[in-house]
Amino acid sequence: EPPKLVVPKPAAQPEEEDDGKKKVTIFFGTQTGTAEGFAKALAEEAKARYSQAKFKVVDLDDYAAEDEEYEEKMKKENIAFFFLATYGDGEPTDNAARFYKWFTEGKERGEWLKNLQYGIFGLGNRQYEHFNKIAKVVDDLILEQGGNRLVPVGLGDDDQCIEDDFAAWRELVWPELDKLLRDEDDTSVATPYTAAVLEYRVVYHDQIDGSASENGSANGYTNGNAVVDAQHPVRSNVAVKRELHKPASDRSCTHMEFDISGTGVAYETGDHVGVYCENLSEVVEEAERLLGLPPQTYFSIHTDKEDGTPISGSALPPPFPPCTLRTALARYADLLSAPKKSALLALAAYASDPNEADRLKHLASPAGKEEYSQYIVANMRSLLEVMADFPSAKPPVGVFFAAVAPRLQPRFYSISSSPKIAPSRIHVTCALVYEKTPAGRIHKGVCSTWMKNAVPLEESPNCSWAPIFVRTSNFRLPADPKVPVIMIGPGTGLAPFRGFMQERLALKESGAELGPAVLFFGCRNKEMDYIYEDELNGFVEAGVISELVLAFSRQGPTKEYVQHKMAEKASDLWNMISEGGYIYVCGDAKGMARDVHRTLHTIVQEQGSLDNSKAELMVKNLQMSGRYLRDVW
Ligand code: 2AM
Repeated sequence: EPPKLVVPKPAAQPEEEDDGKKKVTIFFGTQTGTAEGFAKALAEEAKARYSQAKFKVVDLDDYAAEDEEYEEKMKKENIAFFFLATYGDGEPTDNAARFYKWFTEGKERGEWLKNLQYGIFGLGNRQYEHFNKIAKVVDDLILEQGGNRLVPVGLGDDDQCIEDDFAAWRELVWPELDKLLRDEDDTSVATPYTAAVLEYRVVYHDQIDGSASENGSANGYTNGNAVVDAQHPVRSNVAVKRELHKPASDRSCTHMEFDISGTGVAYETGDHVGVYCENLSEVVEEAERLLGLPPQTYFSIHTDKEDGTPISGSALPPPFPPCTLRTALARYADLLSAPKKSALLALAAYASDPNEADRLKHLASPAGKEEYSQYIVANMRSLLEVMADFPSAKPPVGVFFAAVAPRLQPRFYSISSSPKIAPSRIHVTCALVYEKTPAGRIHKGVCSTWMKNAVPLEESPNCSWAPIFVRTSNFRLPADPKVPVIMIGPGTGLAPFRGFMQERLALKESGAELGPAVLFFGCRNKEMDYIYEDELNGFVEAGVISELVLAFSRQGPTKEYVQHKMAEKASDLWNMISEGGYIYVCGDAKGMARDVHRTLHTIVQEQGSLDNSKAELMVKNLQMSGRYLRDVW
């Protein structure tokens, strides 16, 4: 073999030497960390079972810097598993987007896939139309092109207990790996495996005054990073906050403006903003009480042992910066979501009351499946509620942040402004989540509550701030402003369209000629939750949109929804579509977007005098050609 020319690449991982061990690669596409956690858990157990093989867990984005590299590297894979989550309107996670695009849009891949033995586990939610689309598509494609599927694609359903789905799928994997990885003369039976409770190494510090990391400036939020993304958010002040609902409403919707001047953050109309918010202090204090630890405890967490070697498995999420317990609980712990089964097991391991330990273990076991789905899922029990029910379970901080409380995730919002009108501001339109759970707890949505309570710079120089970052979307106005535009956005689904209208206003003011645009907006009652009413009327007056169509669902004798109004306007809409118009839908995916989709189908079918399958094809084509875009959640 000729000597290899090694070109050093700064980001690439060093080529591993061939030690004759079989190699298994476990890829993940993750958004909130669940897929990553499963990938690591699979690797962890596999390592314990097959000492004769090597297992590597890889972020799909880190795997290859360019598309060609995917092919080049994947050619060398023989055994691979993929953990792929599906989001929103059937989209891949950010870190799997490039791989997905490359793999699904690519030409025939042919030969090399024939060498690949693979298995896929999908993470999705059955409530959504495109349940596990990404996993299914990749699974079908690999199989179609000659790959050897080891196990049926796992269809994880987050609506129920996705950990159970994963556990069941994993049991199908072992017999297959036994065949592939065990030597023929190896007749030993794998020892039953119990996952160890994860734990960080914790170092306690004497806190030095009001240390830098407490106020955020030394917390990775230092503005001026070359990249701004979920791992590198920037600190941004709340410049403006106001209530959008009218006094008669018993609900709340917040208009908020983040100041991005000097942060290096830029956005485009239609993008999303990711916001890291904090837990309410009442929630944090309850957690402190349940953990039985002083809030001023100042500590740091580490994924390596004192001698610098990694803690085994290292399925641990990356550590957060040193801070007090109070800060850690406020910023980094998801305290109000349902506890995972692995969290119950970790709590059980630290429950001093044996009855509590047994009950927690039971809840996490296959035998306790029904009870888990009743006590936890159906009753929307939060981690804190469960900890309050099992007061003897007081895990140490290293365990709590590793195995009990998942990291508080950023929340994404469709930006409701346009940089053409608000270049130094990111506007957010956020409905308050405030509901009574079946168990009687008042659930206050973490980020929407934070926004409602935020103090804007207008009111105090000591204003609220949050680490934020922008996520690019494909929700864009047509390049030619003369192309007709149909926008459907009830409730906070209005958000990106406010941005669209600002953009059209700016275009108009700069002399552009605008084509027809119609906005369908819906809410309960004109006197309660008709948000941005004056602005919308202003947009009509200014000729930014040609028509504003309103649907009030709790005002008149009958429920009026946006799709009812669309049906009334069927022929106008058909004309706009026939002239090359674009259709945009934003808002709730489970109900509204699905019903609007059906209505669109009916309009196309009736107005175009098409049969059912031709109408379906036409709607599909609109979607494929990017003329029917959805920003749904
Ligand atoms: P409702 O709450 O009275 O049922 C914004 O939330 C608006 O969307 C409200 O008027 C709400 O009505 C309405 N809405 C609820 N479900 C919907 C659906 N499936 N399709 C369209 N609009 C819906």
